[in-house]
Amino acid sequence: MSNKIVLSRLYELILPYRFLFMLAMFAALAVAGLSGAQAYMVKPLLDKIFFEKSAYFLAILPFALVALFAVKGFFYGLNYFLLAKIGQTVIRDMRTRVFEHIHLQSLSFFHKTPTGELISRVITDINLMQAAISTAVVGLLRDFFQVIFLLIVIFTMNWKLALISFFLIPAAAIPIVRFGRIFRRISTMMQEQTAEISNIMHESITGAPVVKAFTMEQYESKRFSTQVSKLFKTMLERAKYRCIQHPLMEIIGGIGIALILWFGGKEVIIGNATPGTFFAFLTALIMVYEPIKKVSRINAVIQEGLAAAVRIFGLLDQKPDILSKPGAHDLAPFEKVITLQDLQFSYDGKNPVLKDINLTVPAGEILAIVGPSGSGKSTLTNLIPRFFDIEKGSLLIDGVNIKDITLKSLRNQIAIVTQQTILFNDTIRENIAYGDQNKSEEDIKKAADAAHALTFIEALPDGFNTVIGESGIRLSGGERQRLSIARAILKNAPILILDEATSALDTESEREVQKALENLMKDRTTFVIAHRLSTIKNADRIIVIKDGRIIEEGTHTNLLSLKGEYETLYNMQYQD
Ligand SMILES: Nc1ncnc2c1ncn2[C@@H]1O[C@H](COP(=O)(O)OP(=O)(O)O)[C@@H](O)[C@H]1O
Ligand SMILES: [Mg+2]
Repeated sequence: MSNKIVLSRLYELILPYRFLFMLAMFAALAVAGLSGAQAYMVKPLLDKIFFEKSAYFLAILPFALVALFAVKGFFYGLNYFLLAKIGQTVIRDMRTRVFEHIHLQSLSFFHKTPTGELISRVITDINLMQAAISTAVVGLLRDFFQVIFLLIVIFTMNWKLALISFFLIPAAAIPIVRFGRIFRRISTMMQEQTAEISNIMHESITGAPVVKAFTMEQYESKRFSTQVSKLFKTMLERAKYRCIQHPLMEIIGGIGIALILWFGGKEVIIGNATPGTFFAFLTALIMVYEPIKKVSRINAVIQEGLAAAVRIFGLLDQKPDILSKPGAHDLAPFEKVITLQDLQFSYDGKNPVLKDINLTVPAGEILAIVGPSGSGKSTLTNLIPRFFDIEKGSLLIDGVNIKDITLKSLRNQIAIVTQQTILFNDTIRENIAYGDQNKSEEDIKKAADAAHALTFIEALPDGFNTVIGESGIRLSGGERQRLSIARAILKNAPILILDEATSALDTESEREVQKALENLMKDRTTFVIAHRLSTIKNADRIIVIKDGRIIEEGTHTNLLSLKGEYETLYNMQYQD
């Protein structure tokens, strides 16, 4: 992404706040003008008071000085506050926008993108961008005005001296540009390495049970420390350049002042300038050097901010690959039939995971899907809520292609219970009512009861108000599963997908969960991927999937009599 594009996109972000921005600019102009006045005052101070010994000037100059500082202080404060406000507003908007954008993405995006990377975009990168916008870009403007006003003072004082200093300024600009490039490169490295660190942290913390079970603590620490060392090296490199940068700029400044002193001193000695003129000139020059010196530091911040902006815009430019069509209609409540026609699907666009799938599921049917692991069962059920888009063929609900309806209305009609229960670090009540704040206490309780969860919930000291910890860590597997079933019951969607919902459980809790599932399946159209015979026996029909194809279909007795794949599976997996 070129600088020009990044800048114009940043400009668009500030555009809504242009009036505040203009006010900030005005304040900056005032600060700059008053700085010029401060430098200018040195001339009467010296010439009138120290050389002409004027009592009149002695009486008014101190007051003028205080007034000048006070007014300048006011405008400086105003400028600072306005810039902070604009910067923080932009940040707030951007954070929300990036977060929303991340959640617009399809599941495949989350499979591809590490969590730590996304977190680092929303937190660190946006901070860097804010620094660039408020402190830097606008601080730069303030400094720029200041330089202009001070230059005016410099030229009115003595143009010959001014010309000399004019050659010094470009000399100072060369290292500024050089350093800018270096800082931008280092900053990109810094960000990538920081993101990698958060990834390792995220993985190892969420995977703590596995790390412990495999006693991989040392391995994880090593992985972490390797990455931290890389960042350490980058940070040291940054410090190295920063530490050279400062003295280098000072030396250039020192040389400049020495030259001026020499020429200026000569002018005063010859009588071409008064001492007041010379000192006012010198004051202005020292004052002008301050903002110029700052430019190089600000430039580093801007470069870091630009690099961050490129990453953020890059993320925002990733179009979600699954979206509702423009003008899509809502799906009417499901009534009749779900149809899969000549359906083909692959994750990578090359190797099909599902082939030639033809299936008609009338409303109210319980369809069991069986097959060896990796045969495509979960993939098939994930196509119904459109977590992934079908490559060939179509999937129709009551004759309507799911690509033609809004995602929200489609997903509202589907409830899913999988082997991995996803719970949030919130109360049990909020976890059951997830996504719907309007559910009454009564309904939540009923759902918990139907899910065989009420007894254990009420036995907890805080009942429904118990906060269950990240991923429901404070509950047993069966309890977690019953909470996610309660959530599905409460959602009361006509289409139900059960993906090995009981496979992670022991027999005791499975029996409870099984009863909960039976309550859940009542009056719904159910796709059930099962690993236990009991679930399959309840099914109206069973399909057997192997290598992405439906190879057998029928009832339990029918299929057994075929003496084919189902019988093999049955003998291996489902014999109780
Ligand atoms: N997100 C994914 N990206 C790429 N390949 C996947 C993904 N999920 C599953 N697969 C592959 O698709 C095939 C079918 O997987 P899946 O539907 O999960 O099987 P099952 O549920 O029958 O065990 C497997 O070969 C698996 O490796
Ligand atoms: Mg599966």
